Amino acid sequence: MKPTLAEFARDRAGVRLGVNIDHVATLRQARRTTYPDPVEAALAAERGGAQGITVHLREDRRHIQDHDVERIHRGIATRLNLEMAATEEMTAFVLRLRPPAVCIVPENREELTTEGGLAVAGHEMALGPICKRLAEAGVEVSLFIDPEPSELDAAASLGVPVVELHTGAYAGAAGSEAKAEELERIRTAAVHGSGVGLQINGGHGLTIDNVGPIAALPGMVELNIGHSIVSRAVFVGMEAAVREMLIACRTETS
Ligand code: PXP
Repeated sequence: MKPTLAEFARDRAGVRLGVNIDHVATLRQARRTTYPDPVEAALAAERGGAQGITVHLREDRRHIQDHDVERIHRGIATRLNLEMAATEEMTAFVLRLRPPAVCIVPENREELTTEGGLAVAGHEMALGPICKRLAEAGVEVSLFIDPEPSELDAAASLGVPVVELHTGAYAGAAGSEAKAEELERIRTAAVHGSGVGLQINGGHGLTIDNVGPIAALPGMVELNIGHSIVSRAVFVGMEAAVREMLIACRTETS
């Protein structure tokens, strides 16, 4: 049964919700206007109950711009989680800004969105020094990876405190059997990751209809959700869209 708004207000425990507002900037960039303002979206998401704000500063700056990240970092009351590619340019940007948290993601210019998890296993020599420099600057580093034990082990070997498990294959799985298989893959990865000392976050492709079982996984700490929330916000507003997602996160059978 879905909790009522009053029950929901009483019970704020459970998985944390980070709201990704990239697509508010996508809309602005479509016309190169000054609106809609991602900062306004971030503040509305917070009023709706978001416990963090996530943005991806892409190499091609197709949506979020450098000044957006700076203004969001200064303006929000919760925590900025900056998604970044493992490049020198992005590392230098983060070392200047010092956001509380970053999530290192793979990045291809042609992709519509982040397509797969970061290949950590086999790339420890390249990723290790970047993770170390960011950690030494006091930034919490997370790696966005596929739910594979080998990737979790590689992440743990780099000493990062957090991983974000890619939920895209679960979200995109057609049919209940395939969905159950993908959910099991994420559950196994979450248990494995917690066992090697990693904080487990998740994200990608999550909606009100598929988030419940992911939010209920043991050890799941934070979910980062963007596209479905911003899409819903077009019709009901950002605050209401975030509230709806928080309710869905607390409803296992959604
Ligand atoms: N987590 C990561 C690492 C991402 O790259 C994205 C997409 O920007 C998300 C979460 C949010 O995915 P979605 O927009 O599908 O909710």
